[in-house]
Amino acid sequence: MKEDRSVGVIGLGYVGLPLALAYHEAGLTVVGVDANPKRVEELNAGHSPIDDVGDARLNAARQSGIRFVGSEAATALLAAVDAIIVCVPTPITLSKDPDLAPVISAAELARRSIRPGHLVVLQSTTFPGTTTGPFRAELERSGLAAGRDFDLAFAPERVNPGDPASASRGVPRLVGGSTPEATARAKKLFENINSHVVPLSSPDAAEMAKLLENVFRNINIAFVNQLALLCERMGLDVWEIIDAAATKPFGFMAFRPGPGVGGHCIPVDPYYLAWRAREFDFVERFIELAGDINLAMPRHVVELAAEALNDRGKALKGARVGVLGVAFKPDVQDARNTPAADVVALLKNRGAVVSYHDPLVPELRDADGTIHRSVAFDAVVDGSDLVVVVTAHRSLDWSAVYGRADLIVDTVNSSRGRVRRDRQVFRLGAGWAAPDAADRLD
Ligand SMILES: NC(=O)c1ccc[n+]([C@@H]2O[C@H](COP(=O)([O-])OP(=O)(O)OC[C@H]3O[C@@H](n4cnc5c(N)ncnc54)[C@H](O)[C@@H]3O)[C@@H](O)[C@H]2O)c1
Repeated sequence: MKEDRSVGVIGLGYVGLPLALAYHEAGLTVVGVDANPKRVEELNAGHSPIDDVGDARLNAARQSGIRFVGSEAATALLAAVDAIIVCVPTPITLSKDPDLAPVISAAELARRSIRPGHLVVLQSTTFPGTTTGPFRAELERSGLAAGRDFDLAFAPERVNPGDPASASRGVPRLVGGSTPEATARAKKLFENINSHVVPLSSPDAAEMAKLLENVFRNINIAFVNQLALLCERMGLDVWEIIDAAATKPFGFMAFRPGPGVGGHCIPVDPYYLAWRAREFDFVERFIELAGDINLAMPRHVVELAAEALNDRGKALKGARVGVLGVAFKPDVQDARNTPAADVVALLKNRGAVVSYHDPLVPELRDADGTIHRSVAFDAVVDGSDLVVVVTAHRSLDWSAVYGRADLIVDTVNSSRGRVRRDRQVFRLGAGWAAPDAADRLD
């Protein structure tokens, strides 16, 4: 079997950039291609745009020969490599249908360079049938055929930004080729950077496996979100209950409630499966239900804000509400699809005067399209009638938050062990928190 020693990576974001660096560090010749000229410029200037790749690592790769180019300059370079891997976004439209435009335009880019002997791998998360359907069709407009002239495979990504362990060689990787030869070849290519590569029978199976992983998360998060609402009504503490259930060493996996789901994957990928299922006259009811529940969480957070202010005899209208943390999860700068964008817009639309602080996200576009800028931590903590904690970055001074803020809605259980006074903190899924014993204060 042909040994691939050079790789072209199309799409240099959260997935493509670390992948390109991993291949380069494994000794392969790598060219990275991105349609966004600003991204290419930034990389060539030695500035990493993503959390998990430091500038030092990027610069070491640049100095030892990795290349980053725009789409225009890519044709000859991609024609010269052995394998092309596509890592472009797979968003949804406003009506929540898959938007394959980036995948098709990346396939078009690859098609301009394709030659007999190439291996082309799609890595973007997508519905079963994409690799062997529209992706393949675009590549075959070259006149070359998959399985005869070039090899075609799908290999989903499992990286979890903010969690370095998820990018390690030890995390198994799935590959499914359109022929057994393509599977074996793609497996060998990924074995340069992964110590455990799992072959599947087809690209469709690999696409479905990736959706199973992400839809599983979405559904379980929806379930605990709903349990959180029930616990609020019943006067129970959902966080205590999840921790209790998690002591079971088998058959249970803990998921936590929160203000909603965000990022590129969990709120988006289920719609890829639901859309594809409808083509088979199949309604994916779990997905639709989970989507409804998770999408409604920001509204619930705003109801909790109104309830907390009401307790102080204040209305949401005219109240100064400070949001702490707007990234879609702790310790990352990624605010794509963040529930904070909905929380901020909904608070604003109810008449609150909203500001936010996030040390990692200097600017936030709310769900109405209004741009907000992060203000000082002190301004949010000391200058708000109510603080709403949406994302609990570890770098924030939580003792100061709970020591100084007068009234807080905590959506992520950041107040545990830190509550100072009665009716100071309303916790999502638990209600008003009792003050913690002095020996538990920081
Ligand atoms: N971010 C994650 O944690 C993660 C994890 C697993 C899987 N995925 C999947 O990986 C894929 C990529 O996600 P991401 O987070 O890296 O996206 P991203 O937005 O961070 O990066 C995508 C890059 O592709 C570029 N691009 C878009 N269209 C292009 C084209 N036609 N040609 C060349 N470049 C193009 C963009 O300019 C951008 O730099 C998605 O399908 C996503 O669902 C993401």
